[in-house]
Amino acid sequence: MGLESYRGLAALVTGASSGIGREIALRLAKEGARVALVARREAELEAVAEEIRALSGEAIVLPCDVAESGQVAEVARRAVEAFGSIDILVNNAGYGGQASFLDWDLEDMERMMRVNYFGTLYFTKALLPQMVERKRGWLVFVSSVSGRIASPEKSAYAATKFAMTGLAEGLSLDLEIAQTGVNLLTVYPGVVRTPFFSAQMLKGMSEKTKNSMVEPEGLVDAIFVALAKGKRELTFPGGLSAGYVVKALAPEFLRKQVLRVTKK
Ligand SMILES: NC(=O)c1ccc[n+]([C@@H]2O[C@H](COP(=O)([O-])OP(=O)(O)OC[C@H]3O[C@@H](n4cnc5c(N)ncnc54)[C@H](OP(=O)(O)O)[C@@H]3O)[C@@H](O)[C@H]2O)c1
Repeated sequence: MGLESYRGLAALVTGASSGIGREIALRLAKEGARVALVARREAELEAVAEEIRALSGEAIVLPCDVAESGQVAEVARRAVEAFGSIDILVNNAGYGGQASFLDWDLEDMERMMRVNYFGTLYFTKALLPQMVERKRGWLVFVSSVSGRIASPEKSAYAATKFAMTGLAEGLSLDLEIAQTGVNLLTVYPGVVRTPFFSAQMLKGMSEKTKNSMVEPEGLVDAIFVALAKGKRELTFPGGLSAGYVVKALAPEFLRKQVLRVTKK
């Protein structure tokens, strides 16, 4: 079902303290939704909540480490208690990294899976049942183009995003078969200018990749258009999706292209 009016709806956004999540939360509030802001840094969430209140919007701050299932269950319960229900869940919290597989710290690889994949799983498990019960809801998974095409020095990150892609594809089919009335949109961003990239990651980035960087506002506009159209997938910028077709038809050719584009 397309989502055109946000008035009277309540949303929960993970990773709302920064970058894409912050931008989505602000846009949801501007459109008239009440927003629960989730991330670890409370002061940053409070600053976003203040911005929303300055726009006459309604926001609550719920600090949480999404990698901890107990914290997620408690925060989900408090969000539903505060707003009566949650109609829109945006699973966006996540982080990346850049290292060759041999150099990547095992603990960090495990932690990244807990945050990016299990955080998404925990919040979806906690909030989907009340959507199904009301036969209405929208799930947004912020994956990555790295969840469809891996690149060098991104193996651990790509694995977390491929996991999100698999979960989203399967869950979306389950939701349709059971006629739940719940939509799932998976977002595959390319390279977006946010604090996601550390100085070290930017240093290791090829000029071609740097030049392809887009602003978070453009991505968020595209997400809201996709929600209005009831789409299930969004790759942004759209041209990157050509890579999925090339990968399916000519995987060796795509591999060479990936090596060429990411070469420093
Ligand atoms: N930027 C890009 O080019 C790009 C491209 C493709 C996909 N993405 C995806 O987009 C999402 C948002 O990234 P961004 O670019 O907006 O980066 P960002 O500015 O660094 O924001 C990441 C957000 O995730 C939160 N977060 C991280 N670990 C968390 C945890 N354990 N528990 C709760 N919240 C946590 C952070 O909040 P706290 O630090 O306050 O916890 C922050 O709000 C990520 O999933 C990322 O993989 C980004």
